[in-house]
Amino acid sequence: MPKNEKRALVTGGAGLIGSHVTDLLVREGWKVRVLDSLEPQTHRRGKPAWINPKVEFTHGDIRDRETTAAALDKIDTVFHQAAYGGYMPEISKYVHVNSLGTAQMLEIIREKNLRVQKIVVASSQAVYSEGAGICPKHQLVFPDVRPVEQLRKGDWEVHCPICGAITKSAPTPENAPVGGETVYGLTKVDQEKLVLLWGKQVGIPTIALRYSCTYGPRQSVFNPYTGVIAIFCTRLLNNLRPVLYEDGEQTRDFSFVEDIARANLLASETDQLDGMAVNVGSEKGVSIRKVAEIVSSALKIDIEPEARGEFRPGEMRHLTSDTKKIRSAGYKPQVELEEGIQRYIDWIRSQSDIRDYFSEAEQILKSKGIVHRVEVGNA
Ligand SMILES: NC(=O)c1ccc[n+]([C@@H]2O[C@H](COP(=O)([O-])OP(=O)(O)OC[C@H]3O[C@@H](n4cnc5c(N)ncnc54)[C@H](O)[C@@H]3O)[C@@H](O)[C@H]2O)c1
Ligand SMILES: [Zn+2]
Repeated sequence: MPKNEKRALVTGGAGLIGSHVTDLLVREGWKVRVLDSLEPQTHRRGKPAWINPKVEFTHGDIRDRETTAAALDKIDTVFHQAAYGGYMPEISKYVHVNSLGTAQMLEIIREKNLRVQKIVVASSQAVYSEGAGICPKHQLVFPDVRPVEQLRKGDWEVHCPICGAITKSAPTPENAPVGGETVYGLTKVDQEKLVLLWGKQVGIPTIALRYSCTYGPRQSVFNPYTGVIAIFCTRLLNNLRPVLYEDGEQTRDFSFVEDIARANLLASETDQLDGMAVNVGSEKGVSIRKVAEIVSSALKIDIEPEARGEFRPGEMRHLTSDTKKIRSAGYKPQVELEEGIQRYIDWIRSQSDIRDYFSEAEQILKSKGIVHRVEVGNA
């Protein structure tokens, strides 16, 4: 079928990643429909101006059966990006939106025998328990999530599961154990397993892309629970210190949103990744303290970050994605972190009313037990 006849449904197409996937598909000649509930936490001012005028926009919830069925009508490829994310306390909402929403979408496709030919689902590096490590004695190991008792003592290191030695971070391959140590992570595991196993049952190619931390223009400046680069920017623009959990030396792999959009297009076009869960990342680990530095120097606001001995149980210490699989299918990230952060800041400067929502959220996170503090005497 010629490209210009391909029809895509992008769920969550008003959001950071979905809107960039949408723009790329439109440029490539696809007909695109977006289904998005305009989650108020993310879209405090309603429908964002960046929604591509060439798409058919449906304001609706993936949890609503009729809405989802209508959105799937005459669609060839589904880019399923809609999800409830971050470190929020509403645990049942994650299960409803992410797990049930996905299961129901698959059920509808099979029930109505729709013509969908491919599904690309947004998974996450949050499906891993902890990043892979190198032990001086045992080489590549897959440590478990660090016990809360260890973190309470202010010991942030990742120890070898066999001998207890301190490990050094290594790129995590897709065959690392998948756990889901946060409710969000758990529901991302649900989403990818549901989509992959269902695809095998019905014979429709499906792919789960395990994105690394994604950032870039359109990342919500309202949501204090997700997106470290966005949170640091809004803190600094309000003359507040960025808050580092643990000691700020934990590392993450960052992806610019346009690279993630390109990975989605690639996954939809190649058959090399069908049936698989695939990492997408830069394969570079950067410490959160370093991210705070890059953001502050790009903004030219010289405010030091602070580490107050706080931590989030279940959080990984280090995660860098091993990206051999997607690279072998032709993926190559194009935007380096410094350039990407600069592009985010250029965008954020064009937005009005950059308030700090983090301070208020912090109290909620502490009172609900999502953020803990090291025990006195250990800090
Ligand atoms: N940003 C990251 O760092 C990152 C990393 C790994 C995975 N992911 C995954 O990528 C996907 C997109 O994330 P994002 O960063 O663009 O987030 P985002 O919050 O910017 O976008 C998600 C969109 O989904 C919509 N949505 C939420 N609940 C919905 C529902 N019930 N029905 C319909 N629409 C709904 C929201 O309104 C929003 O526009 C998500 O599945 C997320 O879990 C993101
Ligand atoms: Zn060891």
